[in-house]
Amino acid sequence: MSVADLQLDERGQLRHFLTVEGLKRELLESIMNAAESFASVTEQTVKKVPLLRGKTIVNLFFETSTRTRTTFELAAKRLSADVLNVNIATSATSKGESLLDTIRNIEAMHVDMFVVRHAQSGAAHFIARHVAPHISVINAGDGRHAHPTQAMLDVFTIRKHKADFSQLTVAIVGDILHSRVARSEIHALRILGAREIRVVAPRTLLPAGIETLGIKTFHSLDNGLEGADVVIMLRLQRERMNGAFIPSEHEYYACFGLTEARLDRAKPDAIVMHPGPINRGVEIDSKVADGHRSVILQQVTHGISIRMAIMSMAMRRDLGEKPA
Ligand code: CP
Repeated sequence: MSVADLQLDERGQLRHFLTVEGLKRELLESIMNAAESFASVTEQTVKKVPLLRGKTIVNLFFETSTRTRTTFELAAKRLSADVLNVNIATSATSKGESLLDTIRNIEAMHVDMFVVRHAQSGAAHFIARHVAPHISVINAGDGRHAHPTQAMLDVFTIRKHKADFSQLTVAIVGDILHSRVARSEIHALRILGAREIRVVAPRTLLPAGIETLGIKTFHSLDNGLEGADVVIMLRLQRERMNGAFIPSEHEYYACFGLTEARLDRAKPDAIVMHPGPINRGVEIDSKVADGHRSVILQQVTHGISIRMAIMSMAMRRDLGEKPA
């Protein structure tokens, strides 16, 4: 079964959310439209809707996370689901239990959804292939492969500021080689019809053949930023590096760090994004990260409504209802 077939049910509705690759533009737009309506829930005095009352969602994070784990938890609670956060450090995984046995045991507790972050590329797909038919799996980041909900909250944030994707030049800057976020963003931006997608990085931090994804590559930050509408900065993913990819952080910042002066190469109304965590003085200057063109904290806020949209669309399938 292809990943596309695995993600959608026989009616073409979301079952799992594992990757953006191969999804249709209409589906991405319906996720963003649903997120738009969920954003108002977050602004109410009582920040809850009963859509997933009685459902149990399990957060299984085998890797560290601040933004993704907490916004998934908040999103689930705002949909009235029960949330179980499994602490992997104190779980039986440390006693040698396999991933599949962990899943099988939690599945036996009659849960409805797994939200999975794992250092191994393909971990969420593996789980999705083995769970019972009523269970949904959401990929919260797998190795270098994909971080689809991050890509969705990023394009949602872009849509809030820029009306028409077909007019946009988007520059993604930094450690593309190790970045699951970059891969998912490229797929999402292509599906939504962005005019030009650029990746900007030293040669050592660009995967071979990345041009086949239909993007332009730059090794000069100044050239890569010229006329950009959206600048997405990425951190150096040291936890995935198995050697020296840059001479030093000092030199990296000198060549690829985003400063106010460098940002002047982009369009005057360009927005600056970053999935976090940010490393100030390594890939971005504090004046830019905290400046008026930065939408970095808006991305975090949008993560809640995008995750509410994706979870509710995947879980309402079994109720025979249309997506929210
Ligand atoms: N953007 C992101 O995935 O951040 P966390 O690692 O804190 O979840």
